[in-house]
Amino acid sequence: MAKTSVEHNAFAAILAGGSGSRMGSADKPKQYLMLGDKPVFVHTVEKFVATGAFDMVLVMCPELLRQQTTDLLLKYAPGCAERVLVCAGGATRNDTVCAAIAAVEERYDIDEDTLLVTHDAVRPFVDHRIIMDNLQAAAQFGACDTVIPATDTIVESLEGEVISSIPPRSALYQGQTPQSFKLTLLKRCLEALSQEARDALTDACKAVVLAEEPVALVAGDAANMKITYPQDLRIARALMEDERA
Ligand code: CTP
Repeated sequence: MAKTSVEHNAFAAILAGGSGSRMGSADKPKQYLMLGDKPVFVHTVEKFVATGAFDMVLVMCPELLRQQTTDLLLKYAPGCAERVLVCAGGATRNDTVCAAIAAVEERYDIDEDTLLVTHDAVRPFVDHRIIMDNLQAAAQFGACDTVIPATDTIVESLEGEVISSIPPRSALYQGQTPQSFKLTLLKRCLEALSQEARDALTDACKAVVLAEEPVALVAGDAANMKITYPQDLRIARALMEDERA
């Protein structure tokens, strides 16, 4: 089995189970839109497979798109087939993370040190350094989040009418992905939450923070952008052209 530089078994979960409602693309979710010469999620999968650090890269997609996802991977990234497993995601992003944990547990022997790197399929500009730093930090601390320093001042308003506070910007970061974990630690933290708390969870790292376990920071990159709105896709296409030039 593949080992990371820190000698733990590692799995990647590419979260591609969303519907991309904010993108407003009627015929397919944003992770299936073309970026350069291949769909967005295929670029992302290739980045993870290229590291050679994972036993398996799981692509967690909408249940109804499993066959199509497999076909697209064969068409656009045939060299990745041996290291990629397509599985059904869940109704929410958090459900998709839980489905990834279950898929790994069902198929592989895992132990306390097995690592799970979760990443948004719609962040195709993730790079080798970020992925390897995630593996290192998750092995060392148990969990880590990829972040960049906040550039805008963040204003808090609890009621949405007037400002409650303006936290010092030097202590604020914007969360990206990957978010990476010792798989059994993440599972324990998720199981410790009530169903209500789990439903309200927008971020897997938060489950670990709520359990008062450490979550290390890994330096992200402004280029590791998330494609959410149509203008993000235009920026991504320009970045891709820049990369190719
Ligand atoms: N995601 C997932 N399973 C879900 C929901 C989201 O795997 N049930 C994935 C998305 O496919 C995406 C990532 O989580 O790669 C980040 O989520 P977001 O950008 O919010 O994606 P969507 O939920 O698809 O977008 P929207 O909120 O606009 O509908």
